[in-house]
Amino acid sequence: MPFQLLYISRATRPMLGIDIESILFTARRFNQRSDITGMLISSPANFMQVLEGDEAAVKESYARISADPRHRAHVILRETEVEARQFGDWTMASHIYRDHQLDGMIDDITAVVGNCDVITKSYLLGFSQRALAA
Ligand SMILES: Cc1cc2nc3c(=O)[nH]c(=O)nc-3n(C[C@H](O)[C@H](O)[C@H](O)COP(=O)(O)O)c2cc1C
Repeated sequence: MPFQLLYISRATRPMLGIDIESILFTARRFNQRSDITGMLISSPANFMQVLEGDEAAVKESYARISADPRHRAHVILRETEVEARQFGDWTMASHIYRDHQLDGMIDDITAVVGNCDVITKSYLLGFSQRALAA
């Protein structure tokens, strides 16, 4: 069964759209190679990311990601086997929070989390709701 890991972290400096685009570019290239799928949500100061795939590949990837100086204070919120991939179509789906595009955020994320189990979905939507309220 696929393995899923979900964590939050804090950006070490405010992230601009271009910073996130650069992270996603690298992430998607590596993830395609390791057959990892998932989602990254960024608010100005925090990240929430879901990684899923083979357990060893997910753990190896998380070890690399969590050593990245662009973020710190990682907390793993969920590590579990899942029946099937929940982001199977995405080498890394994303939602980048931008000040002027708040309205679409929940809708965007809701569209991607349609296949998620209730716990993963509530983490992702809870994170985005808190970002909106901040
Ligand atoms: C918030 C965040 C999310 C990331 N997500 C991924 C990811 O899903 N997959 C990945 O391979 N790298 C991801 N990266 C980039 C890695 O930290 C790392 O830069 C990349 O894997 C290249 O590894 P290297 O610097 O050891 O060559 C992410 C970085 C950050 C800051």
